[in-house]
Amino acid sequence: MPVYLDHAATTPMLPEAIAAYTEALSLVGNPSSIHSAGQNAKRMLEEAREHVAASIGADPIEIVFTSGGTESINLAVKGLFWARNSPLRGGRVSRPGPRPRILVPRGEHHATLDTVEWLEQHEGAIVEWLPLDELGRVRVDAVEAALAAHDDIALLTFLWANNEVGTIQPLAELVALAEAHSVPVHVDAVSALGHLPIDFAASGITALSISAHKVGGPLGMGALALARAATVEPLIHGGGQQRRVRSGTQDAPGAVAFGVAVRQPLLDHTELRDRLIAGVRSAVPEAVLRGDPVDRLSTNAHFTFPGCEGDSLLFLLDAAGVAVSTGSACQAGVPEASHVLLGMGLGEAEARGALRFTLGHTSTQADVDALLAALPEAYERAARAGHSDRSTTLGQA
Ligand SMILES: Cc1ncc(COP(=O)(O)O)c(C=O)c1O
Repeated sequence: MPVYLDHAATTPMLPEAIAAYTEALSLVGNPSSIHSAGQNAKRMLEEAREHVAASIGADPIEIVFTSGGTESINLAVKGLFWARNSPLRGGRVSRPGPRPRILVPRGEHHATLDTVEWLEQHEGAIVEWLPLDELGRVRVDAVEAALAAHDDIALLTFLWANNEVGTIQPLAELVALAEAHSVPVHVDAVSALGHLPIDFAASGITALSISAHKVGGPLGMGALALARAATVEPLIHGGGQQRRVRSGTQDAPGAVAFGVAVRQPLLDHTELRDRLIAGVRSAVPEAVLRGDPVDRLSTNAHFTFPGCEGDSLLFLLDAAGVAVSTGSACQAGVPEASHVLLGMGLGEAEARGALRFTLGHTSTQADVDALLAALPEAYERAARAGHSDRSTTLGQA
């Protein structure tokens, strides 16, 4: 069995969730049907909605099931933007005028980045990029200044806990600032769910995105918590399910398994993570821990390794039976320097040496030991390859 240290990408389904899922899969009936088979499916679906709602302190009616974090984020960001900027809707509720501005920190997940960029290119959004500090925290002073400077803001959207470097944002402070200016807030809580306590009702957040496969539930299942008073334009039109916000026959088995997964206690791997961090530092003294050393997910350890490509390290560790991640995207198979690290002020070369280790519900000390045993040789080889790449380039120049 390979050692799996990439739980932030996706974590294995919990045995309880698999059991509930497979049982529910043999269910017959569309939850929208009137007959008793349909009503049985509906009952299971609504119970699951209650569990998901309870896990984040929301009301069941506020939970809109989706196909995952990406859809939830699209629904929230586009939906809130359109609700503020559709001429028909604006006219009907006599809003003072369009609000095309979106406040968004650098370093968001691509589900948010690409959505706001699409709105900018196609729908006339004005995107205000908020800077990060060197630990990956959103600069609160910049958020405050942007809120004070503009009265045309459709929404503030931000990632609660950064999926690459693990930094936890000052959520209460950011939401309070937005509330003071009556600006709706969307929070990408995909990497916070199951790790940090969430109280949607008390938070003042307008919309919050979560995903099942990050917490031991199935792939292709997620939810948007949408405050009762909030209005979003739907992305998907059809049968009018889920308050007409998200049409389509609902995935009762997926919801049931999600409902089981969210009932697990919050994961706290602080001790194991700290041993991993100390172990990496002693195995490779050149490695630099990135992200906030204090306000970070208990499951995240993220490093840059000078003089080598994170990708080479990843392949070498994989060959040694340890699955990790560089944390950032590949574009058409070509590894890119992480926009999160660049946003934190790192140079391109430094950022390309990134590696992310993330723990989950199956993680043990033995996993960490296996990583630490394989890392020194992998680093040495990757650094050698890194140097020879550069000398070739320099030689050609
Ligand atoms: C922070 C964050 N937001 C959003 C997503 C997208 O979620 P999903 O994979 O459910 O579409 C992910 C998954 O990688 C994530 O880590």
